[in-house]
Parts: sequence; C-alpha cells; structure tokens
Amino acid sequence: MKVSFKLNGRPVEVDVEPNEILLDTLRLKLGVTSVKRGCERGECGVCTVLLDGEPAYSCLLLTAQVEGREVVTVEGLRGDELAEKIARSLVEQGAVQCGFCTPGFILTIYAGLKKGLIKNVEDAKKLIEGNLCRCTGYLKILKAVEKLLA
Ligand code: FES
Ligand code: FES
Repeated sequence: MKVSFKLNGRPVEVDVEPNEILLDTLRLKLGVTSVKRGCERGECGVCTVLLDGEPAYSCLLLTAQVEGREVVTVEGLRGDELAEKIARSLVEQGAVQCGFCTPGFILTIYAGLKKGLIKNVEDAKKLIEGNLCRCTGYLKILKAVEKLLA
C-alpha cells in the first residue's frame, strides 16, 4: 500500500506493508537514521519522533497510521534555534555519552518546551520518563534542561 505524509517539512510517499512500523519505514526506506531501534515495545524512547508536534514512539506506530500527518525527526530540526540550544546544553552538561538516546531526548524536550510544559526540573523529570538513557544517570540531562530554563 502507498502512504503519504510530511517528513521533516517535505511530502513523501512510500510503499509499505500493511503491518510495517514507522520505525522501519524511516530507517530502512527513508534513510532517517537518527531514529533508533531499541526495545521495539514502547519502553525506551530511542525511536521517538514528533507526530503532529507530539512525541510518539515510531516502534508502536504502523506507517499507515501516519497517512496525511506530519512527522519530524532531529534531521528536520537542523537550524532550528530551540533545538540547537537544547543540543548545545546537553553537550555542555556532559549529557551526551554514547548518544544513542540523544535524538529522542532532544525531540521530547523540544516538544515540552515548545508547548510550555516544562517550567521546572520536576516537570522535565515527568516529561522525560518515557526516554531511557543507559549512560548518563539522567542528572546531567536534567541539568541541561535546568540551564535552558535559567
Ligand atoms: S524502540 Fe520504540 S520505545 Fe524502544
Ligand atoms: S548517552 Fe548513551 S544511552 Fe544515553
């Protein structure tokens, strides 16, 4: 089946299997490698994308479900002032180690800040609870968000 949607501001049309997940379409057919494969069951957040501006796990979405919708990955936020500030703050606080989780964190924090959902570190803690990081211990990630709020 053919599915059409907007990816990082551009219209795309792809041939997919009815049971194909968005994670596979993005990585294997559209070359979007910032979206990572982790648990594949909605637990780790490394496959996060923004779907119509909301963080969503691409491992839990069928590609057919994004017909007519807008998908954004970190590739699409290149040059975006807020996204670049978030990335810089994560780097400055040492919150990027292996980097496998980083695109997912950037997208989740980006959506939260855009919507005014992060007023303090407690808000940030709640917001990022669906994104796992096996390297940093989270304190540096939260510090990076705190710096952004200062
Ligand atoms: S790979 Fe999607 S939540 Fe882990
Ligand atoms: S920096 Fe390695 S998983 Fe987060």
